[in-house]
Amino acid sequence: MSSEFEQRTAQYKQYIEEYLDHDCFCYASQPQETLFSSMRYSLLAGGKRLRPIFVFEFCRMCGSDWQKAVSFAAAVEMIHTYSLIHDDLPCMDNDDYRRGRLTNHKVYGEAVAVLAGDALLTAAFGYLAKAPFSADTRIRAVEILSACAGELGMVGGQVLDMQSEERECNVQEVEDIQSRKTGMLIVSACILGVLAGGGSPEQMAAAEKFAKHIGLAFQIRDDILDVIGNAGILGKAVGVDSKKNTFIQLYGLEKCNELVCKHTKQAIEALSVFENAQYMAHLAAHLTERNF
Ligand code: IPE
Ligand code: IPE
Ligand code: MG
Ligand code: MG
Ligand code: MG
Repeated sequence: MSSEFEQRTAQYKQYIEEYLDHDCFCYASQPQETLFSSMRYSLLAGGKRLRPIFVFEFCRMCGSDWQKAVSFAAAVEMIHTYSLIHDDLPCMDNDDYRRGRLTNHKVYGEAVAVLAGDALLTAAFGYLAKAPFSADTRIRAVEILSACAGELGMVGGQVLDMQSEERECNVQEVEDIQSRKTGMLIVSACILGVLAGGGSPEQMAAAEKFAKHIGLAFQIRDDILDVIGNAGILGKAVGVDSKKNTFIQLYGLEKCNELVCKHTKQAIEALSVFENAQYMAHLAAHLTERNF
């Protein structure tokens, strides 16, 4: 399983990397060249490509050709990348490094970084609209991504995250912040995969449940790595979220490790409606120990 797991992960990563590199924002001789360069700087800076992998694998688990889902996968990765560019701005987390490079605003300046994020967000919906699926499926995809990324999803979570710096939050509040700011985009990736794969309502519900638990586990691990991680390996600074209201503040490291395992177990249980979920279960387990 292990080498099969690694092979499939590498195949998915290569496929999305090549698509983003060759099919996205490559325009010859346009005056807004700096904007395209700034968008591609962050989009092609590496990263785990976890959200595209979720799109591809849920599509495959529903019995369909995963490659057909590539523009859905690219759209989610564009929104994710824009969220990181904006998250790193001086008015937000004020970070200098991301994905092993200087942050977008450090290279292109704040104004271009804001606009590169805007353009990635806008382009994402164009990629959903041109995917090779029926009009109904594409409209549904737009509805899903918009709800997960917007004011009740990722952006809403980021606002609550910023506001929470001013005060102490209880467990429900912290869970709500983390579920929105990180969990909702992961939900969008998993259910867009099922949508692309023509999955059943039962598979859709299972993917959503999986994603909610894996999203929480993922953000708690991110907060653990902010304390124990290595900046060189992570490609971003550590110790930067200590003022934030995270599960680390509420529970400390040891309990947080337990929470990562608990949510990962619940995520894996949700996969039982799929017949071929070994890869996804392996990926979920693998993420509990990630150092990157
Ligand atoms: C970082 O996401 C921001 C969070 C939601 C915690 P990732 O850890 O998936 O970042 P990349 O895509 O691998 O750079
Ligand atoms: C970021 O959370 C979540 C989003 C970008 C939506 P963090 O602020 O903890 O992410 P990192 O640690 O900078 O990657
Ligand atoms: Mg942040
Ligand atoms: Mg941050
Ligand atoms: Mg963080």
